[in-house]
Amino acid sequence: MTSTSQWIDACARALRKNVPDTNVLSQLTYRYTCPAKERGTYLPQWLWDSCFHAMTYRWFDPEMAWEELLSLLVHQVSEGDDIGMVPHMSHLAENKDTVSQRLFHQSNASILTQPPLISTAFLSVYRKAPDRSRLSWVYPKLRLYHDWFDRRRDDDKDHLAAIIHPWESGWDASQRWDSLMGRAYRNEEDLRILETKRKELTSLIWANGCDAEILSRTPGGFYVESPDFNAIRAADLSALARLAEELGQRDEASELHDRASLIRKAIHQKMVTFQEGSMYVHDLLGREEAKSKIDHGGKFILLFGQCLSKEEAKLLIDQLNGNGKAYRTKYRIASTNPSEPSFNGDEYWRGNVWLSINWLVFQGLLKYDEEKEALLILKESIALVQSQGFCEFFNPLTGTRGKKYGRPCPQNYGWSTIVLDMLMEMEERDISLYK
Ligand code: GLC
Repeated sequence: MTSTSQWIDACARALRKNVPDTNVLSQLTYRYTCPAKERGTYLPQWLWDSCFHAMTYRWFDPEMAWEELLSLLVHQVSEGDDIGMVPHMSHLAENKDTVSQRLFHQSNASILTQPPLISTAFLSVYRKAPDRSRLSWVYPKLRLYHDWFDRRRDDDKDHLAAIIHPWESGWDASQRWDSLMGRAYRNEEDLRILETKRKELTSLIWANGCDAEILSRTPGGFYVESPDFNAIRAADLSALARLAEELGQRDEASELHDRASLIRKAIHQKMVTFQEGSMYVHDLLGREEAKSKIDHGGKFILLFGQCLSKEEAKLLIDQLNGNGKAYRTKYRIASTNPSEPSFNGDEYWRGNVWLSINWLVFQGLLKYDEEKEALLILKESIALVQSQGFCEFFNPLTGTRGKKYGRPCPQNYGWSTIVLDMLMEMEERDISLYK
């Protein structure tokens, strides 16, 4: 691709190939886009994937961008303790996804959520294609989602939301979770065992009424406060505040901004440590909030959440650039520090480059006025797609297509088209890669 319009065409083609078949479409209220057109897992709608899809669509098909996001709210929980929760997978019935139905003990949606990027996505679509009447309908639902986090996922009232399953992090198979999942990694076989354990965990969650507090005390339960998840949430509350401002609701906006700053402060106080001039960012594992030692690329998402001072951001950017070596791979950003013993550049979430993560860090760099650094991330992302297509994820050392349990990962993957949003964002700043 050598021009912006070619990128638009390529991304439009990739996304449109992943729109459900007519027999499914005809049963839906709104259209959405599957992560990949693969039978089973990837046919239902996925929460944060659709946020990325919508942010790509907004550049050439804003109506589809709106529908993609509205569709996420169709299965928002509308009653009971979990009112407001937005499921991480939905439209299971239309896709006859009986495996997921069994896993979640539900007919049409998952009992888990995913990183809350939805107000961010609505805001960016709204900016391209304002629609006040739709926004008025959406806004209370987004509020309800964030209220749900405070009510159901912050039982220790430290302003940090807990996740109760690795799938909620979006980093399903990362070594970040190995110790809590009760399996130390020694060889490939352990990756399979960990996958089985993730599947089994859904029943424990169901049996305990999806209650984070109870699960944190239940043997075999999973309970983590993660820095990237919470940074994304802080950014999402700020985006929601801006949507409130669009609707003229100033008091609500200021309350939402306050809630976002409490999260930023808590992340900073509880998850960031310094030792001999180096900065570390930790997942807090279990009820006892043990500081995890795995060094992973999720820390760079603290830029997106604006959780750091200018000086601290510089320290993090130094790490991204290879000061401290490991993250300066040929293609960034490795999801796990390549010097971790369990790093594997090929295997699913064990150290790969994901363009969704690159987008979050790219946006974070722009928030800290680091345009040059952001441009480098964009160029590396583009190089990956140019050589391998829209793969689900890539090897940071070789740039080749990643692998899931040894088998090549899917191609024509929806969220890898998010590279277009980065490209267009730069064009709007008059930084063109194609002059
Ligand atoms: C994988 C990823 C998750 C993503 C899903 C759909 O499970 O780990 O983050 O949302 O695929 O693409």
